[in-house]
Amino acid sequence: MPLPYQKSKIKRLISISGEHIVYAYGDQHVIKFPSGPIHLVSSKDALNKVKKEDQLQQKYLKQYQVPYQLCFYKKNGRPTYCVIQKYIQGRAFKIKDLKNPNLKQKLRSLIKANNLMYKQTSYILELFGIKSLFFHFWLRKMENVFVVNQNQLKIIDLGLISDKAKITKSLILRLVIRWAIKRQTQLLKQYL
Ligand SMILES: Nc1ncnc2c1ncn2[C@@H]1O[C@H](COP(=O)(O)OP(=O)(O)O)[C@@H](O)[C@H]1O
Ligand SMILES: [Mg+2]
Repeated sequence: MPLPYQKSKIKRLISISGEHIVYAYGDQHVIKFPSGPIHLVSSKDALNKVKKEDQLQQKYLKQYQVPYQLCFYKKNGRPTYCVIQKYIQGRAFKIKDLKNPNLKQKLRSLIKANNLMYKQTSYILELFGIKSLFFHFWLRKMENVFVVNQNQLKIIDLGLISDKAKITKSLILRLVIRWAIKRQTQLLKQYL
């Protein structure tokens, strides 16, 4: 099976923390390869997770999404995926952006849409990213919500988590997810 991307278009490394390794791809895109714990434990679980995330994000969070293409293929006989997404100039949402009433309002709408998805499906968008979940006191930002042109909010990460869906058989991972949802709920109080 041919690769769904062109190796020659992969350029500088952008990010290696979290769930994906992200590279610049061509002049206007990024490419993301899964590297997180779920993918390491089971690539099948990771694939099911990303398919579910894609479906739910299209339904509940479409207006915040940055266009992307999800590609499935096999690497060394193991099913895997990559995400090719438009490169966006932006930065993570900082707690001090709440001083801007327009951004504050938009963040509230995003949180509302996210809560609705959680209520109806048990999946919630992971807003902070793992570093900020641990070190928010110092970082004071949401890694997965990007501010673009000072007036728009965009979600750059597909990462949804669920404390109910049996997306992974690993008990440790499920406990981590449960903790992450609690931690996010607690941190969000500072953003409302
Ligand atoms: N579409 C994009 N345009 C520009 N930078 C991006 C884009 N997607 C991701 N990045 C950069 O890569 C980092 C990690 O991307 P993300 O999709 O959140 O991966 P992870 O699943 O590892 O959290 C982001 O914090 C951002 O700096
Ligand atoms: Mg992220």
